[in-house]
Amino acid sequence: MDYTTRNVFECGSATIVNHLPEIGLEAAIQEIITGLHARPKRIASKYFYDKKGSELFENITTLDEYYPSRTEKSILRVLPFRAITDCSEVDIVELGSGDHSKISLFLEKIPVKQLLGIRYFPVDISHPALEASVKELICMFPELAVQGIVADYIHQMHLVSGERKKLYCFLGSTIGNLDRGDAVQFVRNISETMNPGDSFLIGFDRVKEVSVLESAYNDVQGLTARFNKNILNVINRLIKSDFDTEDFEHRAFYNQEEMRIEMHLEAKKDIRIKSPYLKEDSGIKKGETIHTENSHKFEEKDIRLLGEHAELAVKRIFSDENQWFSLVHFWKI
Ligand code: SAH
Ligand code: AVI
Repeated sequence: MDYTTRNVFECGSATIVNHLPEIGLEAAIQEIITGLHARPKRIASKYFYDKKGSELFENITTLDEYYPSRTEKSILRVLPFRAITDCSEVDIVELGSGDHSKISLFLEKIPVKQLLGIRYFPVDISHPALEASVKELICMFPELAVQGIVADYIHQMHLVSGERKKLYCFLGSTIGNLDRGDAVQFVRNISETMNPGDSFLIGFDRVKEVSVLESAYNDVQGLTARFNKNILNVINRLIKSDFDTEDFEHRAFYNQEEMRIEMHLEAKKDIRIKSPYLKEDSGIKKGETIHTENSHKFEEKDIRLLGEHAELAVKRIFSDENQWFSLVHFWKI
């Protein structure tokens, strides 16, 4: 079946291909059920991103406490794009592209003539976020060829191929949401598809003072708490369950040993969970938690080791003056 649509927007048209149906709803349901039957319970962080979740994340990026987005943007604003790609015929593949605010900072610096030779492939699991971002991008950069890909980048990266020179981008420290071993495997998988001279630009949130890290995930407005709890609404739709977000407390703290922020949802009382896919007596006890996200932080040695394991050379590390965030240009030799 062909899941390609030609979307006509005000400023022009762009193709969006939806590959999620190839994974199937059953696989998602199975993954969620396995996580809810596990001890401790867990839900994969990719389920945060329905329309509401993507909007909440965008709002989080504007918070004073949430330093990663503005810090990475400050680096992108001064990034010499010619140091990353001097090639006019390049495919830019952005993994977990979200809104277009970061790639736009990069594209803005490219002369119009050169943009004509560039194709941009945003890849995101959130169909609404991807569509909204494609719509805006084609207005901002009419010369750019844009093809949106709705897919799970963990399981479906084979979908991006072709012989043209590639620049992969994985920004926002979304790499930190993968477990350390999975992150290595993920970058390695991409590296195996790269040709000599291809680039991979990855954003890494750096290890820093615990108070700064913990505030970023415990903002006073409670947006991160809403983002965390919204995952239960997504799950309710997928497994027809009856979680009430009001029954849960948002918990986010730094785990020193694992060098990561962990997000959990803690039950305020004993709760029974009804779903046609869960065991009859399924429930959650007061104080019990559901682990929803890890956000790993990195030291320079972790970054260099990742490159080594993935057979990528570190070409340059761009950081802010506080060394709070690093954009790393990896290079396939
Ligand atoms: N890169 C953007 C967005 C980061 S939020 C920024 O830096 O601001 C993480 C993004 O990754 C979301 O848009 C989410 O929908 C997407 N995402 C999360 N897990 C994914 C997966 N497994 N496959 C594809 N996209 C995923
Ligand atoms: C997308 N990702 C890098 C964010 C992070 O910081 O781990 C998601 C997020 N979770 C809570 N706030 C933001």
